[in-house]
Amino acid sequence: MTLAAFNYHNPVELQFGAGSLARLPAIVQSLGGRRVLVVGDPGVLQAGLVGRVTQVLSAADIPHDVFTDIKSDPEVRSVDLGVAMAKQKGADMVVGIGGGSALDAAKAIALMITNEGNIRDFFGIDKVKRAGAPVIAIPTTGGTGSEVTVWSVLSDTENDLKVNIGSPFNYARVAILDPELTRSLPAHVTAATGMDALTHAVESYVNKSCHPMAEAVAEKAIRLIADNLRVAVAQGDHMEARGNMLIASSLAGMSFNRIRLGLVHAFALPLGNKFHIPHGLVNGIMLPAVMRFNLPGNLQKYAKIAELFGERIEGLSLREAAERSVHAVQQLKFDIGLTQTLADFGVTEAAFEAVIDETLTSGNIAINPRLPTRNDLAHMLQCGMRGTV
Ligand SMILES: [Fe+2]
Repeated sequence: MTLAAFNYHNPVELQFGAGSLARLPAIVQSLGGRRVLVVGDPGVLQAGLVGRVTQVLSAADIPHDVFTDIKSDPEVRSVDLGVAMAKQKGADMVVGIGGGSALDAAKAIALMITNEGNIRDFFGIDKVKRAGAPVIAIPTTGGTGSEVTVWSVLSDTENDLKVNIGSPFNYARVAILDPELTRSLPAHVTAATGMDALTHAVESYVNKSCHPMAEAVAEKAIRLIADNLRVAVAQGDHMEARGNMLIASSLAGMSFNRIRLGLVHAFALPLGNKFHIPHGLVNGIMLPAVMRFNLPGNLQKYAKIAELFGERIEGLSLREAAERSVHAVQQLKFDIGLTQTLADFGVTEAAFEAVIDETLTSGNIAINPRLPTRNDLAHMLQCGMRGTV
């Protein structure tokens, strides 16, 4: 059998290292930035991380302004406000610092510095006309992968929807991966965002669009998360584990970037929208049940995931080895204290029909390794309600 055709491209320069934030002024200058808009969320502002960015810029006499009016799942309105500030101040570069919400908003704001019209014109895939202002992305959670992807996920609160912008013009130019900036990330956020990264790696690895380049980076991401997430949660100041989680998150982003995800992320949109469950958490809740459902679609890959988690698979049948991957993820969840269920967030069976309707509209369904029926989806939601598989 010949291999299927694919393309793979990722233009984002990664600057990794403890203390690498110090390189920010040189990067701004190398990209020709004259006035920077620093975009962060209230959480990173409160943690003093926005202050660390502005300190570094001030010390290098780089003019800058700060925009932090961003909630989790950034609203389209936040992007509008950030764009207004960027234009009023004359910003020609954006530095995004924070989790996925801040980075997604930073990239969207940068697009609107150069593109005519309204951010709403660019919802969807490949709708953006030209490159935005250059973005330097500084992730402070090991989760989203936004620093290396074409995606921004925004909340359209007027219509109660999540919307995507996916465009090659929506890449950051440089990502600074500085583990020191994740030192103060609380354990429960480290756990949830780490499960988001794991879900990115697993879903892209097993989906029907996966190709050898994505496979390679996903395997490395899964191994790094299996080996480091527990320590990063248990010992927040363990810089080696923190650094490996940042790398894993970017690798997982590089994997799913163009080949997309699967059923967990299809569920995550309606469950996140309707019940306000943080994205990493909802993925962590749904991942084991979805893996168990998907097993028959790709036994080899699930057996490999078990091996990457260090499960003993010698002497097992392929089916048994694949099952061990579900066990490994359940064990990881237990070890990092991720014990919540959908029921804890007010999900009831009465909501299933509406959740299933919206789940089935996701572009991630068609590439999932096994096509679900409505009954299958209801069964997985029941597992999510109970925390079982
Ligand atoms: Fe995600």
